[in-house]
Amino acid sequence: MRLRHRKLAEALTVPIFARRLDGIGFSASQAAIARSKAAREAGEIVHDFGSKLDTPKHVKQAAIDYLHSPKAALYADPRGLAELRTAIARKLARENGISADADTEITVSPGGKQGILTALLALAGPGDQVLLEDPGWLSFEPMVRLTGARPVPVRLRAGDGFALDLDVLARRITKRTRILVLCNPHNPTGRVFTAAELAAIASFVQSRDLMVIMDEAYEHFVFDGRRHASLASLPGMHERVITAQTCSKTFNMFGWRVGWLLASPAITERIRLVSVHSITCVTSFAQAGAAAALDGTIAQGSLTLAELASSYQQQRDALVEGLRAIKGVRCFMPQGAYFAFPDIKRFGLTSQQLSDRLFAEARVSANPGSLFGRGGEGHLRFVFNAQLPQIEAGLAALQRCLRSL
Ligand SMILES: Cc1ncc(COP(=O)(O)O)c(C=O)c1O
Repeated sequence: MRLRHRKLAEALTVPIFARRLDGIGFSASQAAIARSKAAREAGEIVHDFGSKLDTPKHVKQAAIDYLHSPKAALYADPRGLAELRTAIARKLARENGISADADTEITVSPGGKQGILTALLALAGPGDQVLLEDPGWLSFEPMVRLTGARPVPVRLRAGDGFALDLDVLARRITKRTRILVLCNPHNPTGRVFTAAELAAIASFVQSRDLMVIMDEAYEHFVFDGRRHASLASLPGMHERVITAQTCSKTFNMFGWRVGWLLASPAITERIRLVSVHSITCVTSFAQAGAAAALDGTIAQGSLTLAELASSYQQQRDALVEGLRAIKGVRCFMPQGAYFAFPDIKRFGLTSQQLSDRLFAEARVSANPGSLFGRGGEGHLRFVFNAQLPQIEAGLAALQRCLRSL
């Protein structure tokens, strides 16, 4: 079918594909996952430093119970199940210091990712410019392109813990700039904004009259005694910030596809227009599971959130110590999320070349930094949510391979 379409497109002088997809590639991180899976299915050991504990049992049970009820066959409320929205409002008050109205300010989305796209579709369009951190999560740029707006990269200061420099940001602003997308804790670098940085960002966006989409997918993973803080909780920020959160990372609910957006009532109205005309609602029984997850104390397996975050911290320490012990590797200590983003420039290869060699020669899976923007070149992104023995085995394979370069 696809081939027929392509032939048709070639034969026609008028292109049949939407221009907005030009230059967008398939998700490279999904492709890397598929590559590792294929090698594993062929019986090989792949070192990807990643594995998660199971979704909590009570979460699965809540979804099963809902599935067995007559409600399961019906469309759910397009805003999100009432019990989930109230669980989210309680969670926002408890963990983020935000008082939100479940009826007018919270919208459930199929994962954080689609939530962010929905927010962008509600706010941006052709002629608009959207500021993106560089390096930054690889889906932001294609998402901005899907809206017809122009992504504008803002280089982070690599030598300074990937700090966001507000002077650099200011220089990227034009009269078409509408939105700034931020990610905290940051994928791919593991940077976490300090309270002072968040306050400076708040006064900056107020003075420049910008909207912010704040991606907090990794909010529960912050280390060394830090506390995650939401930009939307700062004075005056509620109207200006759309916050995207998700169950995926915290509760190992990646395939469930449940996230949510918090925004002012005026923006929420627009968000819900995009949502109802595209998805109608998020899968009802997955939402029932998400409500149980947010009201429960267990994050993954039998671990509480605090226990999970502390095991990630130990895994981070093991990975970063191992990386730093390799000659030629420099590594910023991640403050949150579960990624290490070492500098590998001394090996004289591009990050893509090094990533390919590591996989080909040692079955070590690390994403090339270039996937995350020009500012990511010269780095690799490693995950560290595997158990310690897996991290140690991966490090040994990595060390052997890099020594031979
Ligand atoms: C920075 C960031 N934001 C958002 C997401 C979206 O997660 P989900 O759509 O599974 O909620 C991801 C997932 O990889 C991510 O890394």
